[in-house]
Amino acid sequence: MRKKIALIGGGNIGGVLAQQAAYHELGDVVIFDVVEGLPQGKALDMAEGAPLLEADSNISGCNDYADIAGSDIVIITAGLARKPGMSRDDLLATNLKIMKQVAAGVRDNAPEATVIVISNPLDAMVYTFKQVSGFPKNRVVGMAGVLDSARLRAFVAWELDVSVQDVQAMVLGGHGDTMVPLVGYTTVNGIPVTQLLSAEKIEELCQRTKVAGGEVVGLLKTGSAFVSPALAAIEMAEAIIKDKKRVLPCACLLEGEYGVDGLYVGVPCVLGANGVERIIEVEMTADERKQFDVSVDHVRTLVDQIEI
Ligand code: NAD
Ligand code: LAC
Repeated sequence: MRKKIALIGGGNIGGVLAQQAAYHELGDVVIFDVVEGLPQGKALDMAEGAPLLEADSNISGCNDYADIAGSDIVIITAGLARKPGMSRDDLLATNLKIMKQVAAGVRDNAPEATVIVISNPLDAMVYTFKQVSGFPKNRVVGMAGVLDSARLRAFVAWELDVSVQDVQAMVLGGHGDTMVPLVGYTTVNGIPVTQLLSAEKIEELCQRTKVAGGEVVGLLKTGSAFVSPALAAIEMAEAIIKDKKRVLPCACLLEGEYGVDGLYVGVPCVLGANGVERIIEVEMTADERKQFDVSVDHVRTLVDQIEI
């Protein structure tokens, strides 16, 4: 019996999510969107291509939440993406209204699902979903740190001309310009990056990571990154579906960890069949901890604007 994966939002990221989930046979995929025909058309197109990849997952599209019933995993990209000149925070008012609708739809139709939120501003949107749905905290997680860490991994690999496979990185905090790349946990097959790059170059790559989303938005002009975010969410979904116990940076509900209570913030966690199975508290330098606290404060200012 294949798992059922519901994608709420069939836009740029939703389309890549559907392909990756279906073509890697992570489960049967249902795409939900409010635009009539969009999810159905994308699903039909992908399903017709499945024989070429020998993938047997069912792919369908819908405009009715009833069709997501029984979903094991729900991945949410519903909402506006930013355009040049916009910050993620600028999306709050519009996407908050959307997330409240989505949370009610998922709560009422897929009450047992584990939910990965992608919509921005991420830390506020995953918090909203948790508050409206009432789902337990282990079954509500935000995707940001896996993407931000992948970006730093790519930048380090390109600079050193080494395989991306051998570069590990960890970016914590809020999903915005205040995110915190942890240099001490950036390694190349276990070799600390501080042994391989100058402090100035490392700082340059960390800074590029913080604004990497905006760099893509500035080039695309019509929206934001959508392939790398989808791949990051798929890594999280696979960890849950296959009970892989992956240690990944995810937006998790903190209730005392890192001295934070009642906010979703990017921290290392263990992702498995039970969703966020535990949170790992890592040591940071004094400067990193200061940056982390600034990032948490920024998340708090966003969440303080939310009325459920
Ligand atoms: P997109 O505009 O291509 O797709 C969004 C989809 O949501 C559209 O198809 C739209 O019809 C749908 N939608 C709108 N209102 C809806 C509702 N009430 N219910 C269901 N669907 C609804 O945007 P995208 O590029 O796929 O990005 C989606 C979201 O993900 C944006 O908010 C973007 O900022 C965010 N994002 C987050 C990260 C991250 O790291 N967390 C990375 C990239 C993008
Ligand atoms: C953005 C995504 C990457 O808005 O969060 O650029």
